[in-house]
Amino acid sequence: MALTNSKPKIAIVYASATGHTERLTEMIVDASVSQGLQPEIFPVKEFDLKELLRYDIVVVGTYTWMNGEIPRQLHSLFEAIEQQSGDLVTGVFGTGDRCFATYCGAVDLFRDMLHAKTQLAATLKVEQMPSAEDRLRCDAFMNSVWRKYSQHVENLVAAKP
Ligand SMILES: Cc1cc2nc3c(=O)[nH]c(=O)nc-3n(C[C@H](O)[C@H](O)[C@H](O)COP(=O)(O)O)c2cc1C
Repeated sequence: MALTNSKPKIAIVYASATGHTERLTEMIVDASVSQGLQPEIFPVKEFDLKELLRYDIVVVGTYTWMNGEIPRQLHSLFEAIEQQSGDLVTGVFGTGDRCFATYCGAVDLFRDMLHAKTQLAATLKVEQMPSAEDRLRCDAFMNSVWRKYSQHVENLVAAKP
């Protein structure tokens, strides 16, 4: 992680089976750009896990599968982030359906791991297809990610001998 206030390198990596999380990803990208960030966007199958170390911020987008599970295509990303040093700043967003007992369970599973292993900034859950009103929530989500990054850089600089 660069100890300057220069633009962080940010990846937004997502999985979407029927398009809801993909739409939410587009809104998160818009919110990132409004925040002055320049994210790189990857459907998870196009993301090279070996590149993870190149990023200061990784934001994950996930839908939820059977019984609150993380979709299979995101398992490798989950495991790779789990092995990061604690400097990676992260956020997780996702879509789900309240008809299921574990609403957005995959967001919760990512949240718990990211909280333990990274600098988790924020989580965001949206039911099914996002609507225009969710834009404000995306803005708040990305604002939290940016503030967490800035704070973490400040802490690292302050801790330097
Ligand atoms: C077989 C199946 C199981 C699902 N299980 C859950 C679940 O446990 N919890 C939940 O919140 N949503 C569940 N959902 C709903 C999806 O997560 C939801 O529709 C989501 O918006 C799909 O995102 P996508 O369009 O990006 O694929 C399930 C959907 C299907 C088809």
